[in-house]
Amino acid sequence: PVMADGSRRRALCAVGLALGAAGLAALGTLLLRTYLLRAPAVPRLWARRGAAAAFGAGERLELKEVLRGAIKIPTVSVSPEDLNTTAMAEFGNYIRKVFPAVFASEFIQHETVGEYSHLFTVQGSNPQLMPYMLLAHMDVVPAPPEGWEFPPFSAAEHEGFIYGRGTLDNKNSAIGILQALEFLLRRNYRPQRSFYVGIGHDEEVFGRKGAMEMAALLEARGVKLCFLLDEGSAILDGIVTGVKKPVAVIAITEKGSITLNFTVEKEPGHSSIPPKETSIGILAAAMSRLEQNPLRNLFGHGPELMTMEHLASEFTFPLNLIMSNLWLFSPVVSRVLAWKPSTNALIRTTTAVTMFNAGIKLNVIPSSAKATVNFRIHSAEKATEVLETVRNIIADDRVKINVVEAFDPLPTSPWDDQSFGVHIFQRTILDTFPDVDSVVPGTCIGNTDSRHFTNITNAIYRFNPLLLSSDDLPRIHGLNERISVEGYEKQVEFLFQLIQNCDTEKLPEPHASSHEL
Ligand SMILES: *[C@@H]1O[C@H](CO)[C@@H](O)[C@H](O)[C@H]1NC(C)=O
Ligand SMILES: *[C@@H]1O[C@H](CO)[C@@H](O)[C@H](O)[C@H]1NC(C)=O
Ligand SMILES: *[C@@H]1O[C@H](CO)[C@@H](O)[C@H](O)[C@H]1NC(C)=O
Ligand SMILES: [Zn+2]
Repeated sequence: PVMADGSRRRALCAVGLALGAAGLAALGTLLLRTYLLRAPAVPRLWARRGAAAAFGAGERLELKEVLRGAIKIPTVSVSPEDLNTTAMAEFGNYIRKVFPAVFASEFIQHETVGEYSHLFTVQGSNPQLMPYMLLAHMDVVPAPPEGWEFPPFSAAEHEGFIYGRGTLDNKNSAIGILQALEFLLRRNYRPQRSFYVGIGHDEEVFGRKGAMEMAALLEARGVKLCFLLDEGSAILDGIVTGVKKPVAVIAITEKGSITLNFTVEKEPGHSSIPPKETSIGILAAAMSRLEQNPLRNLFGHGPELMTMEHLASEFTFPLNLIMSNLWLFSPVVSRVLAWKPSTNALIRTTTAVTMFNAGIKLNVIPSSAKATVNFRIHSAEKATEVLETVRNIIADDRVKINVVEAFDPLPTSPWDDQSFGVHIFQRTILDTFPDVDSVVPGTCIGNTDSRHFTNITNAIYRFNPLLLSSDDLPRIHGLNERISVEGYEKQVEFLFQLIQNCDTEKLPEPHASSHEL
């Protein structure tokens, strides 16, 4: 029923086109594919249910104020050595105060990990069911107040929004998960399936003390998860060109990274008798070659292809036709995606020259020039391959290359009808967001704490149940980060529903009638 209107529009559009292009057999094939091959890779097994009992007025006021209180605590992390640990300790006291039922529960064990992170073990009543994990972080990137409409740690409320650092990244999740659990406990709920809640305190600076130690602790205990849900993607509203309806994009991998230092050393000298080439000239030419020769376009080799295929029917004409026939149009689509930086980042390893230093005095030929370049690695490439390609592009022995840091892209999590997590997300999105029809796999171009958990699950998903528009994206790590009060209520509702949906023991069997054809 949800998709009926859309199918009719597509049918009409197909008929109109077929008439216009009568005789063109090739086009006929395309249309047939557009029209027939819309079955999602994960068949929709769940019917949309009536609106779940939402929260009362008192609870809605409470959840808003609890988030605002958390935003006011300046849990800033600048570097692994420079964290506001006073604020992090305060955050720990704060959650004890505002989530009394969570801390009093007999079946919830709480531990602090790495001094300031929090790990909750929620013991389900049925130990046969494989546990899952919800992950979030309390730390935030620094926020100098200049340029903010409201001070970044004021949690000011204005026209339906709460302003402040951490409202989107990521106290909304950290507080939202515990809030949902608190509300469930007050309703005397006890889960059947066990789960873990992890709240890291150093995600923005690599997560070595928080997430890594939590993961090591769980691994040492022999824990295996059926899935892990972290931040890293969202419900995109008007962000995908040509798609009108909001789309839930769940990231099934995240890009890797390699940072390289480049150095050119030359004899210093006087500017009155300069050599033909200076260290600056040599290095500048090398950096220019890197920018002129981006790493190869890998569209079709990572999840971005699945994203397009799953979304195909949501695109307006003629994009729906094109996206349903990537076997033919893939070369064109890959070139179009390369135009905009935001989509270019999805289809290749990106090159960003971030630092360039040389020279000490206006009449001295400098002895050295240094540059730093950060590459974000596409899921179909490895750090060693990137290094090799970069050496070939530079092709100049005078440019010395040092590896500052490197890690490969994360493995791609399963996305099929056997994946418990995928079903749970699909069902919970249907329950909570009536306007969202499409739940599609994607790539996270940043990095999250979840990357430290690969030893205890292969099913890592990155998704915030939150509508984001193009206007919201620059606010993350930027100025005027904010969340709508309604959006946050929805997030808590999603988590409240997700925990209950996870009590499902068995997934329903796929059957023909559940396919949308
Ligand atoms: C660290 O957090 C505390 C509150 O917990 C705050 O009073 C202090 O100003 C913060 N320090 C810095 C350097 O921001
Ligand atoms: C790379 O270059 C940056 C900037 O010059 C410097 O701070 C850093 O220490 C260098 N790292 C290595 C491993 O060479
Ligand atoms: C996973 O386990 C291997 C082998 O014990 C270890 O070398 C690696 O560091 C672990 N990975 C993570 C992300 O903890
Ligand atoms: Zn984050």
